[in-house]
Amino acid sequence: MEALTASAKMKQAQDFLPINGTDYIELYVGNAKQAAHFYKTAFGFQNLAYAGPETGVRDVASYVLQQGKIRLVLTTPLKSTNPISEHIYKHGDGVKVLALWVDDAYKSFEETTKRGAKVYMEPKTITDENGEVRMSGIYTYGETVHMFVERKNYKGIFLPGYQPMTSDYNPTPTGLLHVDHCVGNVGWNRMNPTVKWYEDVMGFVNILSFDDKQINTEYSALMSKVMSNGNGYVKFPINEPAEGKKKSQIEEYLEFYEGEGVQHVAIATHDIIKTVRELKARGVEFLSAPPNAYYEDLLNRVGKIDEDLAPLQELGILVDCDEEGYLLQIFTKPLEDRPTLFFEIIQRKGAQSFGAGNFKALFESIEREQAKRGNL
Ligand code: FE2
Repeated sequence: MEALTASAKMKQAQDFLPINGTDYIELYVGNAKQAAHFYKTAFGFQNLAYAGPETGVRDVASYVLQQGKIRLVLTTPLKSTNPISEHIYKHGDGVKVLALWVDDAYKSFEETTKRGAKVYMEPKTITDENGEVRMSGIYTYGETVHMFVERKNYKGIFLPGYQPMTSDYNPTPTGLLHVDHCVGNVGWNRMNPTVKWYEDVMGFVNILSFDDKQINTEYSALMSKVMSNGNGYVKFPINEPAEGKKKSQIEEYLEFYEGEGVQHVAIATHDIIKTVRELKARGVEFLSAPPNAYYEDLLNRVGKIDEDLAPLQELGILVDCDEEGYLLQIFTKPLEDRPTLFFEIIQRKGAQSFGAGNFKALFESIEREQAKRGNL
């Protein structure tokens, strides 16, 4: 075991880049109107705001959905000449922006670019009748970017240019609260340079590491390091494939996303049994449950838990523990036809880790899906 807990390691992070949390996650999608319907119907997100031709934006349409503290922005280009079209042509639907809520977007840009960050958007101040938002952006892995959003002088619904959006169709929320972590998949020998980038450029610390001896199945393996900012409000695990007998899920992702990118977004709930039951009823597809032996052995592995085993087994919810407590988690199948982005639903009961004890059961489940796609 590590000498320091994950919580203790976070305190070692540098504070030249204070971050208050995830501001929004923007996906580039082929059809934002239909994607918004899916995330509303299946996951219970609510309409918040919209920007598009009706609001004076000529080249894209963006739907902003909200649930708890999570804001999803779904953006689609309206013409092939828009660079977003090229992004979607290459990567398919996926996460473009992991936006971070900061107190000073200009200083965040200056501090990170001074340390080597590649510029995505020079700092700018955008205004409307509701005040001003200051924004800037840098590239992280692949074509993914971090935007810095400073909104202390803004009273509007989302960002200048967006108008409030309401709908007569409002499926109830499913208990999704906030973004717990966002995982990136990077290429061969790219995990350590990416980890170093988060340390040097963002002042993050590596709070947990897993090597291919810990994360492997009969067929494939991967390595993972978890990066966190100081207050632990944003955590970015970074995965890299490792040599195995067959193709790993990370390689499959890299092949179909055609590059590095966001593998999964983990969303917190206070009641995972209720949330997952509801999501399944709405048609969200999850990875298949592990074998019965997983549940027979569960209490020996993690100790006493508050939940009954029967609903966990029925729904295929996984449980893991660390020295600070335990966590419950489950993973959706990919959210689009390419085997790329998926969601994790997670409920933490003290544990600050990421379910390493579940990796084997989980990856065997993923491999069954990969095999069905002919990609194993
Ligand atoms: Fe995760």
